[in-house]
Amino acid sequence: MADNRPTNYWDYIKVEELLALQSGLERTDEKLANDEVMFITVHQVFELWFKLVLREMKGARDLFARDVVAEQELSDAVRSMKRMTTIFRVAQQHFEVMETLTTREYLAFRDKLMGASGFQSAQLRQVEILFGLDEAERIPLGVEGSYKQALRSFAGGDSPALARVERSLVDLPTLKTALENWLYRTPIDGVGPNGPEAKRALDTFAEAFLAAHGHCVDAARDRALSLDWGSGDRERLRERYESEKRSTRAFLEPGDERTRRVRCAMIFIETYRELPLLAWPREVLDALVELEQLFVLFRQRHARMVERVIGRRTGTGGSAGVDYLDQTALKYRIFRDLWAVRTLQVPRAAAPALRNASFYGFKSG
Ligand code: HEM
Repeated sequence: MADNRPTNYWDYIKVEELLALQSGLERTDEKLANDEVMFITVHQVFELWFKLVLREMKGARDLFARDVVAEQELSDAVRSMKRMTTIFRVAQQHFEVMETLTTREYLAFRDKLMGASGFQSAQLRQVEILFGLDEAERIPLGVEGSYKQALRSFAGGDSPALARVERSLVDLPTLKTALENWLYRTPIDGVGPNGPEAKRALDTFAEAFLAAHGHCVDAARDRALSLDWGSGDRERLRERYESEKRSTRAFLEPGDERTRRVRCAMIFIETYRELPLLAWPREVLDALVELEQLFVLFRQRHARMVERVIGRRTGTGGSAGVDYLDQTALKYRIFRDLWAVRTLQVPRAAAPALRNASFYGFKSG
């Protein structure tokens, strides 16, 4: 326990312990080339950032997992998300340090890493799991066995990495589920999910929004068609705008009421974000999209760094290397519905008239 004695920087930051950790497979880093010490250090820095991200994400998840989330606490959640986003933004720049490693210099020590790979970073898997990445969407590594198999030791036994991931898999709900549960409770046109009028209010809002969206798409189509296109292009354009309308309707009529309500809540919050009660929820949604954007950019940036250092050769973890990494950057998405809402928002002036504005603390004039 801390007492009142003065503290030294080295005791608090554990500097000596930290500086003893870059020895790789040797007993001391003095036996290693500068390139290898840099390689180890940059990985360790990332692991520390992942640790902070996990702590922030757990805090945000715990907040949204409550039965009641106080409005004034939403700013804390946004602050947490901004911190995670900033970490991912800053961490990407560390790949530049890694890029000072030339292919030839990396090859000088790469073989001794064989089998070891960032694919075994348990903390990154924990971030994905807690964030809410659907296990069914995982892209096969290209070797037999799942990503969990890769976390076993070479003798096939348990490992601290596997234990971490197993703990995360049962640490529910994920941030995504907690957030959706919170969105589900959002009153739409002043009516929450449990009242006798809940379904009718939801239907009324969804239809009014679809009508407003339809008008906007038709207007955009007419403007586009007034330009000088070839006849084939005109047909393609017309079809493209029609398909926008169809997919918006499909999005709002998913066939399961919970998803429908959550999606409507996302649109409702974005559409009427000037209302005092919706201002912070809207910041939450925006901060989540930004966080996921940075996560995707992190994957892309890692892939480009890898391509620059090792080209397209097979990874030390046995995957197709850059091809595998590009797949993860392209396909892994957690808040798909929040991204989809970007496609179907309408300008403020075109939004359907709000019912029950006073419920949201709105005072005109
Ligand atoms: C020269 C440096 C690096 C190279 C050549 C490299 C290469 C690779 C390759 C080829 C993979 C695919 C799996 C495999 O077959 O091994 C991979 C995965 C991964 N690497 Fe790196 N990497 C480097 C640096 C880093 C750094 C600094 C980090 C930071 C933590 C990192 C984190 C990861 C993670 C988390 C994965 C798993 C990605 C996923 O499965 O979604 N890598 N790396």
